[in-house]
Amino acid sequence: MGVQIAPSILSADFNTLGKEIAQVEAYVDRIHFDVMDGHFVPNISFGAPVLKWLKTELPIDAHLMIENPENYIEDFAKAGADLIIVHSEACEDLESILKKIKDLGVKTGVSIKPKTPVSDIQNNLSLIDQVLIMTVEPGFGGQSFMEDMLPKIKELKDLNYQGDVAIDGGVKDKTGKLCREAGADILIAGSYIFGSEDRLAAIRSLKE
Ligand code: DX5
Ligand code: ZN
Repeated sequence: MGVQIAPSILSADFNTLGKEIAQVEAYVDRIHFDVMDGHFVPNISFGAPVLKWLKTELPIDAHLMIENPENYIEDFAKAGADLIIVHSEACEDLESILKKIKDLGVKTGVSIKPKTPVSDIQNNLSLIDQVLIMTVEPGFGGQSFMEDMLPKIKELKDLNYQGDVAIDGGVKDKTGKLCREAGADILIAGSYIFGSEDRLAAIRSLKE
């Protein structure tokens, strides 16, 4: 299977969100939903009540950039998330949070900020369906890609990690190519896709 593309709707036009998603849906693999609380990151986006209204046939990955994610997991599961991504830095007991997600019948994801090493999540890899490597400091779309994060992909594969490795932050045509060459399974892109006049061309450029 080729690389999967996951547009981040953080950069979409919320006045016409349904249309924004419908326009790209046939050409991408999953929808990326960025949740920010103004504490874990210095920005606020949207939460489960917005997710509830999102209409798509594709799997939705809820990327929780929030403190105390364990208090909100059930809300996101009920609102329709297919996979819930928590930040390892926000979890005191990552293993029990991952088990809680699984018990709700939802797939698991764990994200690591640029300064967090792969070794921090090493013991929990067998419980994780998607590891998300941040290639910017989380909080905002449209930042520059940190190329020095790419070796984390190989580190995960060397640990025999069997799930998907996703890259989030600053993914565009050129940086996307670097991610694919480094072995990424999922490319998350917000401003590049939704900020492009020709969104389908942007999506195509991330695949080839
Ligand atoms: C950043 C978010 C990203 C963001 C990516 O904190 O996690 O998903 O939407 O945006 P771009 O692709 O514009 O860097
Ligand atoms: Zn994200």
